[in-house]
Amino acid sequence: MNNYESTIEFWDERFGERLSSDKRYDPSKPIPLIEIEEGTKWLIKEADSIIDFGCGSRNLLFKSLFLGAKKAVGIDISPKAIELANHTSKLNKMDDKTDFKAGGIELLKNLEDNSIDAAASFNTIDNILPEDAISVIKEMNRILKKNSKFLVKLNDVMPKNILEEDDYYQLISEDFYKEKSGLYFWNLSDSKFREITSPYFKIVKYVDVPFPKTDYKNRLYYLVNKI
Ligand SMILES: C[S@@+](CC[C@H](N)C(=O)[O-])C[C@H]1O[C@@H](n2cnc3c(N)ncnc32)[C@H](O)[C@@H]1O
Repeated sequence: MNNYESTIEFWDERFGERLSSDKRYDPSKPIPLIEIEEGTKWLIKEADSIIDFGCGSRNLLFKSLFLGAKKAVGIDISPKAIELANHTSKLNKMDDKTDFKAGGIELLKNLEDNSIDAAASFNTIDNILPEDAISVIKEMNRILKKNSKFLVKLNDVMPKNILEEDDYYQLISEDFYKEKSGLYFWNLSDSKFREITSPYFKIVKYVDVPFPKTDYKNRLYYLVNKI
């Protein structure tokens, strides 16, 4: 059985709804969150090719192409996300520069060593099985060229007592939950993230990404390939 059936169902429904609206993502417009705009500019500086794992409909890749990247590879387990990404690619006349694939970690394993200049993964590494998250980090290290950049965005850490008191979250293993929505949630602390990335990447910068008018934030890590 595929471990991600309920993840696919959840995201197919969301991206399927967006497919039926014909609003076009315009990569020339600034990203509303300044931290993401700055992170994307850092990532793509001097990079011709970029890969995004858990790309969704993938505005970051289109933005990177707009900023000068020549090739963008997007991987996502939701076939509807990939359909939407391909649709957006055609509308923006970028389909000769994009390669979107529906699938998971197995697709990363097919990519050649030292073949891509930059990588991103936003709000995905902490929504997959911990062993897969660790494999994604290891695979990115293998696929990326020496000294390449990897930009990772994580969800906020949640207080343990809140998660354990709320029956929306079913505890599967230490700090790892399945939500009622069908999604996984690894409540990945800063120290755990540093521990799992340290064999492969150096963290060169960290910023909070606050969401306006809420007390919720995301966490943005700037990583550079060690080997
Ligand atoms: C929270 S969304 C983030 C989408 C996009 N990165 C963004 O920031 O807009 C998480 C994405 O990860 C994808 N995903 C979840 N599990 C995955 C897996 N095992 N392999 C590849 N993609 C996965 C989902 O389909 C979804 O598009």
